Amino acid sequence: MIRIPKIIALCFLFLFVISPLAYTGNTSPSEERLEFLPADIPGLTRGPTVNLVTNHSALIFWRTVDLTNSSVEYGFTDSNLNMSVNRSMLVNDHRVNLTSLQINTLYYYRAVSNGSSSPIYNFRTAPNDSSDIKMIVVGDNRPDQSFAPVQPSEFEDLIDLIILEQPHLVVMTGDYVLEVGTVHATNLDAWARFTDITDLLGHYAPIYGVIGNHDTGAWTGSVKSEYFLDAFEMYNEPSTYSSFDYAGIHIVLLDSEEQGLDQRITGTQYDWLVNDLNSTEQPLKFVFAHRPLYPCRHIGTSLDSNQTERERLQQLFEQHNVTLFAAGHDHLFNRLTVNGVVNIISGGGGAPLYQTPWGGTYYHYLRIDASPRQVNFTTIGLDGVPVDEYQLPYDGPIEIEIRGFANATTQRSGTIPEIYFSEIPVEKYFSWDNDPNTTSATAFPDTAAFHVLDVYAENEDGVTSHEKFVFYSIAGTTTTTTTTTETTNGTFDITLVFMGIGIGAVVVIVVLVFWRKR
Ligand SMILES: [Fe+2]
Repeated sequence: MIRIPKIIALCFLFLFVISPLAYTGNTSPSEERLEFLPADIPGLTRGPTVNLVTNHSALIFWRTVDLTNSSVEYGFTDSNLNMSVNRSMLVNDHRVNLTSLQINTLYYYRAVSNGSSSPIYNFRTAPNDSSDIKMIVVGDNRPDQSFAPVQPSEFEDLIDLIILEQPHLVVMTGDYVLEVGTVHATNLDAWARFTDITDLLGHYAPIYGVIGNHDTGAWTGSVKSEYFLDAFEMYNEPSTYSSFDYAGIHIVLLDSEEQGLDQRITGTQYDWLVNDLNSTEQPLKFVFAHRPLYPCRHIGTSLDSNQTERERLQQLFEQHNVTLFAAGHDHLFNRLTVNGVVNIISGGGGAPLYQTPWGGTYYHYLRIDASPRQVNFTTIGLDGVPVDEYQLPYDGPIEIEIRGFANATTQRSGTIPEIYFSEIPVEKYFSWDNDPNTTSATAFPDTAAFHVLDVYAENEDGVTSHEKFVFYSIAGTTTTTTTTTETTNGTFDITLVFMGIGIGAVVVIVVLVFWRKR
């Protein structure tokens, strides 16, 4: 029997058993350079995440408890991270820019601090401007009062689903924590519970966000946006509103929570928005804010708090062909297209859901598959199954919708119902209780009875839409207790015209025949 000396046996043990355990992530053993890095960065509290991705650059961010140096190793395969950027400065917040990247290319990367490495993740650079891209929208994940600061399990489940989607980018619609208070350590804990979840997604795709009312601490008397700005890597910090372009889409992130100006987009920010939309030539424009323009639940305390300013925003969006205005704040899903601008409320990220007359009461995220040719909106529920779908360009009949009332306790006595059309009608008519048509909506009849409002709208193709809304009015006030809608769509049928002409011709011939026989 051949006897193997102990020292040789120990060498074999090290080479084939112990040293492979030192490999990090799924790195190939063939890469000797990677072999001896410890698998985790000690004291890693954030990331690494990929941020601010363009078609040629990306920012890798991570945070360590100790002051350490920073390297990012990256490459085209997970077994060959043959490029690196190194920073010798000792820092806690590591921000390493990767530049001169190739367009629409999958890169693998890992963060390295003081010789310790994160696992290997990957991200894709942005494609060119005519490509199809996948964007995910999710928000209002904040915990309920009863179990804060723990994040809702539904939010964790949605993030798991979104990771599987492999999106190009993600936009969040606000309200990430229950509240920002006066105790810094408590605030840090609440936000860490949020970023611990979002970083799982942020390893692979850039996440942007708008600030929500729960994220500011406004109730303490002063708006604190530093926690929000710390949670997201954003363009133009420390501003809480910004814009950027991604694959032919101009993306605008607004702040509906400015100190003393909450529930509004006004003043300096509005001026900035006008200039921003004036300066872009991107074919698609997506605008985000926390509070919606046309709320289903927070009526009067959203961007409708100042109706003149809401109208001004709507007209600005129409003027610049804004494709989408997306918000949260209402914990539900809702879509309302107003004069060609798709308004979506996506606030089903985990916070307690709201019941409203418009439904949409389910946890979800929104997937937007977008190109300059077509935009598909798909709402995905907790079970991963699509619930709602909508597509642009839209060529159906005009959609007629009503907003501006919440429930039996919200009364707008003597006011005019808020009726919205998905495109500007060629003709429109309104009629209360079969009264003669009027060309604009009039106020609720102020008598105690059920009242019916019929609304008709004709589009450019001559197709007429009809919606019937039923209300119960109380004398002195007007309260919506029920709404039912009835849709009938009619059009000018050319075959009926030819049939009419044909029948008329036959009648004329018959009359002529009888007349000649007389
Ligand atoms: Fe909110």
